[in-house]
Amino acid sequence: MIIAFGLIILALTIGLIFLFTSPSLSPVPYFPTNKKDLALVIEKLQMNNNQIIYDLGAGDGMVLFEAAKWAKRAKLDTRFIGVEINPILVLILLVRCFFHPNKKNIHIVLGDMFKIDYRQFVKNENMESVFYMYISPWYLEKTVNQIRKLDTPVRIVSYMYAVKSLQHLEEKKMGLHQITSYHLPK
Ligand SMILES: C[S@@+](CC[C@H](N)C(=O)[O-])C[C@H]1O[C@@H](n2cnc3c(N)ncnc32)[C@H](O)[C@@H]1O
Repeated sequence: MIIAFGLIILALTIGLIFLFTSPSLSPVPYFPTNKKDLALVIEKLQMNNNQIIYDLGAGDGMVLFEAAKWAKRAKLDTRFIGVEINPILVLILLVRCFFHPNKKNIHIVLGDMFKIDYRQFVKNENMESVFYMYISPWYLEKTVNQIRKLDTPVRIVSYMYAVKSLQHLEEKKMGLHQITSYHLPK
């Protein structure tokens, strides 16, 4: 009985590890932004009105929900979109969103960040889209190419890795890891 229970727990643990780390399910494994850098990331997002903040590969929503809390406190109407491909993480995001004080401005999308047409979220030509990305360096360029389809103002904030094809606005390592911002030229 105890051995059977142990085997079930082991199988569940292996299943969960596979779901969160398997490159066949997701080429970018789940790894949250370091909590010690959270305040700096929020600062770099430079939140404002008439703006959408996307977290591409939102994970458990640590950055997304903290930023949305910040915006609510500052009385901003910033919109937030969390894109995540892992269904378990999307479930966690939806539950957290339901209990969030700024839930009316948060939208969770179960989908592939490389395939989404981001134009569908932009409400007017002056609306700025800010993309927060903590993804593997070899996937950054692919994502940037997808974002290039937007013809409205775009900023990118990349955690840990640089976007080699873009000229950065700022690259000061103040926290544990590098946080770099870019404007996307038209
Ligand atoms: C390094 S984690 C970053 C999590 C979160 N953004 C943070 O900073 O705490 C990368 C996340 O991207 C998700 N992901 C990987 N490939 C994806 C894809 N093609 N579309 C959407 N999400 C993806 C993973 O499931 C994982 O949760």
